[in-house]
Amino acid sequence: MKATLSFATLLGLAPAVFAANFTLLQDYSGSKFFDRWTFIDNFDNTTNGDIQYISPSTNSNASQLAFVNGAGNAIIKVDNTSFVPYNEKRDSIRIESQDFYEVGSVWVFDAIHLPYGCSVWPSFWSKGFDWPRQGEIDIVEGINLMSANQMALHTFAGCTASGGSGAMTGALGDTNCNSTTGSGCTVGEKTGNSFGQGFAAGGGGVWATQFDTSGIYIWYWPRANVPASVSTATDSIDISAWGTPSAAFPAAGCNIPEFFGPQQFVLDITLCGDWAGVPSLYQPTCGGDGSAQGCYVNSVINAGSPNMDNAYFEIRSIKTYGVNSSVVATGTNAASPNPTSNGGGGGSSSNSSGGGQSGGAEGIMGLTRNAVVGVIVAGAAAVFGGLAL
Ligand SMILES: *[C@@H]1O[C@H](CO)[C@@H](O)[C@H](O)[C@H]1NC(C)=O
Ligand SMILES: *[C@@H]1O[C@H](CO)[C@@H](O)[C@H](O)[C@H]1NC(C)=O
Ligand SMILES: *[C@@H]1O[C@H](CO)[C@@H](O)[C@H](O)[C@H]1NC(C)=O
Ligand SMILES: *[C@@H]1O[C@H](CO)[C@@H](O)[C@H](O)[C@H]1NC(C)=O
Ligand SMILES: *[C@@H]1O[C@H](CO)[C@@H](O)[C@H](O)[C@H]1NC(C)=O
Ligand SMILES: *[C@@H]1O[C@H](CO)[C@@H](O)[C@H](O)[C@H]1NC(C)=O
Ligand SMILES: *[C@@H]1O[C@H](CO)[C@@H](O)[C@H](O)[C@H]1NC(C)=O
Repeated sequence: MKATLSFATLLGLAPAVFAANFTLLQDYSGSKFFDRWTFIDNFDNTTNGDIQYISPSTNSNASQLAFVNGAGNAIIKVDNTSFVPYNEKRDSIRIESQDFYEVGSVWVFDAIHLPYGCSVWPSFWSKGFDWPRQGEIDIVEGINLMSANQMALHTFAGCTASGGSGAMTGALGDTNCNSTTGSGCTVGEKTGNSFGQGFAAGGGGVWATQFDTSGIYIWYWPRANVPASVSTATDSIDISAWGTPSAAFPAAGCNIPEFFGPQQFVLDITLCGDWAGVPSLYQPTCGGDGSAQGCYVNSVINAGSPNMDNAYFEIRSIKTYGVNSSVVATGTNAASPNPTSNGGGGGSSSNSSGGGQSGGAEGIMGLTRNAVVGVIVAGAAAVFGGLAL
C-alpha cells in the first residue's frame, strides 16, 4: 500500500487506487477469544509494575479477570475487588498469542473500552520471539489519565522513525527506535478520544496495523468514523481507501525484515512501574507524595474500587489478515523455548530475510517465501494501478 504511493509519487503520478485484498487469517472474538493465547503466570518482571499476572491454570481467580461478557466481548481487567496490603501486589492479566504473524499481514483491533485511571498502564502490542532482536510494535499504549494513545517501535540499534508529516497524521516524538535507550521511537495520536475516558465515552474505536516490507503503518478510527471497509469486513479486508495512517514507520529509516521477526500479540495491564509510576508523570495528574512509591501507595494498595474500576479492556475482536493464508506462523506456543512446529515458524530461528540458524527451517523458509511473494504481488498491483492512471 505505502510502496504504491511512493512508487506513484516517484513517477509524478497521483496515488494509484487499487483493491488491496487481504484474506482473514484468524478471528479472535466471542466465546473463542481466549482459545489461542498463553496466560503469563508471574509478577511484572519487565516493567517493574506493582502487579501479579495470574493464569487460570494456577489461580481460579483469573476467570474473574479474563472472561467473555454477556455482550460477547472479551474482558481483561485488573482485580478491583480485593484489599491489597502494603508490600503486596494487585492481580492482573497478561496474555500472549500463540500465533505469530509474518511481514505481509494486517491486524485489526476493535475495542469498546481501554483500561485507564491513575497508575494504570495497559498495552496492546506485538513482539518477536527473541526480544528485542526481532522487534516490538506498540499499537495501543498509555498511562494514568492520558487522553491520547501513543504508538512506538522498539528494536536493536539501527532502526529510526523517518515518517514525515505528510506520511502520517500523528506527532513524531523520539526518532531512535533503539530499545536500549528507553522509549523507543514514538508517535502520538492526534485524532481525539484515542485513550481514556473519552475513548470509552465515544463507544471505543478500531486500530489497524499493516506490517509490511515497505514499513509499519497504524491507522486509528474512533467508533463514529470506522470506515465501512473495516466495520463490514468478514473474510477479507480492503485497505486501499484508508488514507494517511496515524503512524508511519517507513522502511527508508528501518529495514523491516532485518529488525522484525514474525510478531505475536500481547495484551496486558500493569500498574505504576517504569512509565505510569514515574513521579514526574504520575503526580501532576494523580497526586500522591511525589516519591518513588507515590503511585503505589496512592493507587494500588488498599481497596481496589473505585481506583481500578476502569482498569479493563473490553474487546470486540482482533482479526488478522494476510495476502493469503500463508503469512501466519500458527500454533507456536510462546511459552516453548524452542518452537519448531510444522509450517509454524515464528521461533527463535525465524528470520524474514532468510537463513534461519536452526530448527523448523522448512516451515520457516516456506513462510518466508510466501510472505515475500505476497509483497511482490502487492507491488505489481501498484504498478498496474499507476499505469492505469
Ligand atoms: C478477495 O479475496 C476473497 C477470497 O479469495 C474473494 O472472495 C473476494 O472476492 C476478493 N475480493 C476482491 C475485491 O478482490
Ligand atoms: C520473567 O519471568 C518469566 C517466568 O519466570 C521468565 O520466563 C522470563 O525470562 C522473565 N523475564 C525477565 C526479563 O526476567
Ligand atoms: C482469590 O481472591 C480472594 C479474594 O481476594 C483471595 O482471598 C484469594 O487469596 C485469592 N486466591 C488466590 C489463589 O490468589
Ligand atoms: C535476520 O538475518 C539477518 C542476516 O543473518 C540479520 O542481519 C538480521 O539481524 C536478522 N533479523 C532478525 C529479526 O532476526
Ligand atoms: C543504542 O543504545 C545503546 C545503549 O544506550 C547505545 O550504546 C548505542 O550507542 C545506541 N545506538 C544507537 C545507534 O543509537
Ligand atoms: C469493579 O469494576 C467493575 C467494572 O470493571 C464494576 O462493575 C464494579 O462495580 C467494580 N467494583 C467492584 C467492587 O467490583
Ligand atoms: C499466496 O499468494 C501468492 C500470490 O497470489 C501465490 O503465488 C501463492 O501460491 C499463495 N500461497 C498459498 C499458500 O496460497
